[in-house]
Amino acid sequence: AAPEVRTATGVETDAVPDARAQQEPFLTTSTGIRLRDTDHSLKAGERGPTLLQDHHLREKITHFDHERIPERVVHARGAGAHGAFIGYGTADSVCRAGFLREGVETPTFVRFSTVLGSRGSADTVRDTRGFATKFYTAEGNFDLVGNNMPVFFIQDGIKFPDIIHAGKPHPDREIPQAQSAHDTFWDFVSLHTEAQHHTMWNMSDRGIPRSYRMMEGFGVHTFRVENDARETALVKLHWKPRLGVHSLTWEEAQLIGGIDPDFHRRDLYDAIETGAYPAWELGMQVLPDEPDQMFAGIDLLDPTKIVPEELAAVQPVGLMVLTANPTNFFAETEQVAFHVGHLVPGIDVTDDPLAQARLFSYVDTQLTRLGGPNFNQIPVNRPHVETNDMLRDGFHQHAVHAGVAPYRPNSLDGGCPFQAGADVERAFEHLAARVPEATKVRAQPASYDDHFSQVRLFWLSMTPVEQEHIVRAYTFELGKCFEQAIKERQLQCLANIDARLCAEVATGLGLPAPEPTVGLADVEPSPALSQVGREWPAD
Ligand code: HEM
Repeated sequence: AAPEVRTATGVETDAVPDARAQQEPFLTTSTGIRLRDTDHSLKAGERGPTLLQDHHLREKITHFDHERIPERVVHARGAGAHGAFIGYGTADSVCRAGFLREGVETPTFVRFSTVLGSRGSADTVRDTRGFATKFYTAEGNFDLVGNNMPVFFIQDGIKFPDIIHAGKPHPDREIPQAQSAHDTFWDFVSLHTEAQHHTMWNMSDRGIPRSYRMMEGFGVHTFRVENDARETALVKLHWKPRLGVHSLTWEEAQLIGGIDPDFHRRDLYDAIETGAYPAWELGMQVLPDEPDQMFAGIDLLDPTKIVPEELAAVQPVGLMVLTANPTNFFAETEQVAFHVGHLVPGIDVTDDPLAQARLFSYVDTQLTRLGGPNFNQIPVNRPHVETNDMLRDGFHQHAVHAGVAPYRPNSLDGGCPFQAGADVERAFEHLAARVPEATKVRAQPASYDDHFSQVRLFWLSMTPVEQEHIVRAYTFELGKCFEQAIKERQLQCLANIDARLCAEVATGLGLPAPEPTVGLADVEPSPALSQVGREWPAD
């Protein structure tokens, strides 16, 4: 049976009813004023000029004028669908991600795409296809942003603008199929010979799929996974279509492209509408996490290489079924924002330089494409778990954040528990000894623990008059705090810098001076430091 899914517009996370559904009995302005006419502008007489005063006219036209957002810089042409993923539990021995556990059902949204064509281009062209999946897991969103080919053109993301420029239409004519655009593409791939593997996949029948439903998907990069025992493995991720892999012949693609440029989009939509739900099994090739990150002579950090299935079988770990079309193409398919960095505990990226560049690129481009930093509040991008970030304000902010202290730790808004071991990267700290280059920590060296000795140096280099100014400034500013505990905590800091400084400020505040909690640094006033920030004496 097909799993039940919620569409993005059906997710009830809004605090207020969906006021934008445009299904109220009366036509209104965007601010709810009922209208009696939307066909005639307000004029100075029946044949007179239109009045600037006509708010409804201006609102209607202004909004229309701004309806378009930029298309994606790549993968602009796409089609999406909602579904659900059910874990088999077979990955438990290598990966602790909750959505892979047996029977766990996770809503998903998938967007298939071509790479090079613009938003209105034909579906049946020869190209790589995007296969991007957002898993709304109980541990937050996991995005698997893959393609229908297991390798990529380039080994380092720094070349990505170049390969795309070489493949996109020429700046002068903007004719995708122009001879010159072929020149630049073939120029690139013959100069950057690492592109030859992906190019051959493009020239094969895989370059013209019969249907999105009949494509494989690949994570391309090697990922590092971790199990409950904190043992790691390297994996390649595969989607295997239940319908098998099928392609169009070149002649079929030409004909269909002329007759129905929306062929793949229509095929996906119709299949789902008629209940022929497309399905894929997610599979893993599990490889040992060796210090050199090699397997059978294959560099696992090189995205132009596959690991042949004869050497490492693809083991099924779950099933995804797509069961619902988007309610609104723009709201869901166009505004969905995938990111290679959306990872859940138990899955991490590797140091593949292509993957590393992607970590920067997606959010950067989405800031422009989706108009500011709050696009994760768009329904299709919202996780299906509570969020508690410290992000504030920005264009299109929909949340009304409470509290006064958007920083942690703070002593004003109460505690904020952190989930031990929740960090994706922290899970790999223990790799330090074995795979030093795989180690990422959120930590700092012990040398960063000295917070007071140079403050003391500064204080001791001041003249008596300057020291008096400092005492007065601390006393005045701290005197403005309401919270006694905050004054006392700052006095403790002053005690760790200098006893006299602390005592004088404490007296001014009418509070006792605490004892230092760290050994005071044995520093001498420094003539050199006392010159810092001052004008040099004239010769
Ligand atoms: C978009 C896959 C490499 C930058 C996409 C999409 C897919 C994809 C599937 C479409 C997402 C959607 O449907 O919304 C891949 C794969 C890669 C790869 C599999 C290599 C293994 C790169 C690299 C960069 C890059 C190296 C840049 C350094 C982008 C950008 C978008 C995009 C900017 C548009 C995103 C948006 O506007 O939301 N990619 N990509 N990609 N990719 Fe990649």
